[in-house]
Amino acid sequence: MPAPGSMPFVIELRVPAAGERAALLLRPWLAADMPALVTEMGREYPARGLWGHPEDPHDYTGPRDEQEAVPWLAGQDQGWRNGDWLTFAVLDADMTDGPAPARGSLAGHVALKNREAGGRVGEKETAEIGFWTATAHRGRGVAPAAVRAVTAWAFDTLGAGTMRQIMLVHDVDNPASCRVAEKAGYPFSELSPARPPYWFTDGHIHLRTAE
Ligand SMILES: CC(C)(COP(=O)(O)OP(=O)(O)OC[C@H]1O[C@@H](n2cnc3c(N)ncnc32)[C@H](O)[C@@H]1OP(=O)(O)O)[C@@H](O)C(=O)NCCC(=O)NCCS
Repeated sequence: MPAPGSMPFVIELRVPAAGERAALLLRPWLAADMPALVTEMGREYPARGLWGHPEDPHDYTGPRDEQEAVPWLAGQDQGWRNGDWLTFAVLDADMTDGPAPARGSLAGHVALKNREAGGRVGEKETAEIGFWTATAHRGRGVAPAAVRAVTAWAFDTLGAGTMRQIMLVHDVDNPASCRVAEKAGYPFSELSPARPPYWFTDGHIHLRTAE
């Protein structure tokens, strides 16, 4: 599989259905996904979980209208070209009713970046993973399955011995994310105390190390 940063590349991760959860398809965000994402942002604008590329100057985590969707998506594309910001749309693949890219309904998002700023993901010792699940898909194990899939792909494809671990950080008042961490194979590592003015709540750091 070609690596990020070497265009053109096609990355598709597939997760079989399990229990109540549909089969999932993970791939980079496309323009065709933006209407569904904007609708979702209108339902609940997530302050956590969705990331914008650091060079995108806009102060938002996800696009709230068509205008914001343009630079947000450009930032995600830039991340794949640079290899420094790798974000996946998570689609419910059981609802497939047409050819890509229109198939599937939007179920969530998973993102990988380096813990320290700069460089391609996989070239530093520690990466960080973020995630978000669309409201209608919550409670079915979408985020744990998607995080597992991206984690396995990252260690297999990007790590090459350099990336030693992936970090998952969440606020202590976000127990749902703590469950995602446990179910996705990220054991609790340490408490991350609040450090105003940089962050205001205590958090948990979960770590998954390369096998
Ligand atoms: C946290 C989040 C990603 C979980 O995603 P998910 O795909 O629903 O994950 P799961 O199905 O494994 O559920 C995880 C926990 O959410 C809670 N949950 C269950 N059903 C739920 C529902 N319908 N709505 C909200 N939370 C629910 C439960 O505590 C569950 O844990 P359990 O398995 O022990 O019952 C999702 O709630 C979300 O996107 N939250 C907002 C963004 C966010 O917090 N992102 C993470 C930042 S660190």
